[in-house]
Amino acid sequence: MPALVLLGAQWGDEGKGKATDLLGGSVDYVVRYQGGNNAGHTVVVGDQKYALHLLPSGILSPGCTPVIGNGVVVDPSVLFSELNGLNERGVDTSKLLISGNAHIITPYNVTVDKVTERFLGKRKIGTTGRGIGPTYADKINRVGIRIQDLYDESILTQKVEAALDVKNQLLTKLYNRRAIEVSQVVEELLTYAERLRPYVADTVLVLNKALDEDKVVLFEGGQGTLLDIDHGTYPFVTSSNPTAGGACTGAGVGPTKISRVIGILKAYTTRVGAGPFPTELFDEDGEALRRIGHERGVTTGRDRRCGWFDAVIARYATRVNGLTDFFLTKLDVLTGWEQIPVCVAYEIDGKRVEELPYSQTDFHHAKPVYEMLPGWSEDISKAKTFADLPKNAQDYVKALEEMSGAPISAIGVGPGRDETIEINSFL
Ligand code: GDP
Ligand code: IMO
Ligand code: MG
Repeated sequence: MPALVLLGAQWGDEGKGKATDLLGGSVDYVVRYQGGNNAGHTVVVGDQKYALHLLPSGILSPGCTPVIGNGVVVDPSVLFSELNGLNERGVDTSKLLISGNAHIITPYNVTVDKVTERFLGKRKIGTTGRGIGPTYADKINRVGIRIQDLYDESILTQKVEAALDVKNQLLTKLYNRRAIEVSQVVEELLTYAERLRPYVADTVLVLNKALDEDKVVLFEGGQGTLLDIDHGTYPFVTSSNPTAGGACTGAGVGPTKISRVIGILKAYTTRVGAGPFPTELFDEDGEALRRIGHERGVTTGRDRRCGWFDAVIARYATRVNGLTDFFLTKLDVLTGWEQIPVCVAYEIDGKRVEELPYSQTDFHHAKPVYEMLPGWSEDISKAKTFADLPKNAQDYVKALEEMSGAPISAIGVGPGRDETIEINSFL
C-alpha cells in the first residue's frame, strides 16, 4: 500500500508540478487533496510547457488516474477551461475522478474574495483572488455548495439561498455592491451538472480500494507548509491544510496508509503575496534570483519575492509534516555566486533562535543569521548523478540536508523531467 505525499516545504512554487510529473509515470493515482485553482504547477515535457491550476499533475501521465479529492475547492468554469485546453493539446483527460464532496467555488465566492481584499486595503493578504478563502469559510460555516448538490435542484436552491442571505447584506450594505440573485446562481451552477457527472465518484472508496490492492497513490499538495492555515504564517496563509495531515482529511485516507512524505524544497526561498519573510532580499541578489529563476507567478503573473535559503523553515517543514525525504529544486539557479548565504538561525530581540518561533510578533522581528557557503561557476544543468556536480555544489546540498533534518533524495537542475538527479528512489 505505497501512499506518498508530495508537498511544498516553503511558501509554495517549490516545483511540486515537476516533481509530481516525474513520479507520475510510475504511480497509479495522483490526488489533489486541498486548495484549488490558486495553485499554479508547471510541468515541462520536452518542448511542451503546461501550467496546471486545479488538475493534478498526473493528468499528463497516460497510465495514471488523476483525482480531485473531497478537500479541494472546485471552480467548474476553471475546471472545464483547463480540461478543454489540455484536450486541444491532445491530452486524454477522460480518467479524471472528482469527489462529490468537494466544495464548489461559486461566482459569489470569487466576488467576496476580491471585495474583501479591497476592503482590507494595506492589511490585505494578497490572495490570488480565486475565491479560495470565502469558499472554505462557507464550508466551515456549513453553507457551502458541494458538487453532489448539483444533482438536486431544490436542495441546491435552498443552499444557495442560505449562502446568499448574509452575503447579500454584506455586499449591499457594507461593500456597496449589487445583491446577487439566487436564481441566477442556481441557473449557472446547473449548467455544469451534466458535464461534471462522468467524473463524479466516491473517491474515498476508490482510493482505499486501490491501496488495498497495492496500487501506488501519490498525493500532490498545493501551496506549501508556511501557507498552511494551522501551521503557516497566519494570517498570511491560504485557507486549507497543504501539510501532510491534509492529505488524510482531504482524500479520506487514514494516516496509517501514508508510507512516505516528500518535501519539495527550493535551493533558495520565494514567496508571493503579503506576510513575513526573514531572508527576503531587496537588492540585486534578489533581482538576480528572480531573473535567473524566472520567479513570476504561474497563476497571477505577480513577481515573486526572493531570498536566500532558510534552514529554520526547512527544519520546521520536516517536523510538522514528518518528512521522510526532500526533493531539492532549482539548484542550477544558484550557479555563478561566489558565496551563497544560508540562514541557519534567527536573531530575535538580540537572542539567537534555532527553531521557528510560534509567536507571530517574534517571527515579524526575526533577522536571519547567515552562514556563507562557497559557490560554483560550472554549468550543472547536464548533471545526471550527484558525482557530476562540482564539489562546492555537492557541499551545498550536503549542508542543506544536514540543517534541514531529512535526506535529499533528488535534485532539480532544470525545469525538464530529465533535468533531475535521483539519489534515492521514491518508490
Ligand atoms: P509549483 O507550484 O510548486 O508546482 O511550482 P511552480 O510551477 O509555480 O514554479 C516552479 C518553477 O520552477 C516552474 O517554472 C518550473 O518549471 C521550474 N522548475 C522546477 N524545477 C526546476 C529546477 O530544478 N530548475 C529550474 N531551473 N527550474 C525548475
Ligand atoms: P502553488 O500550488 C504560492 C498565496 C497567495 C496569498 C495566500 C492566500 O503554485 O505553490 P489564496 O488565494 O490561497 O487565498 O491566497 O497564499 N498562494 C500561493 N503562493 N504558490 C501557490 O500555489 C499559492 N496559492 C496561494 O499569494 O499570499
Ligand atoms: Mg506554483
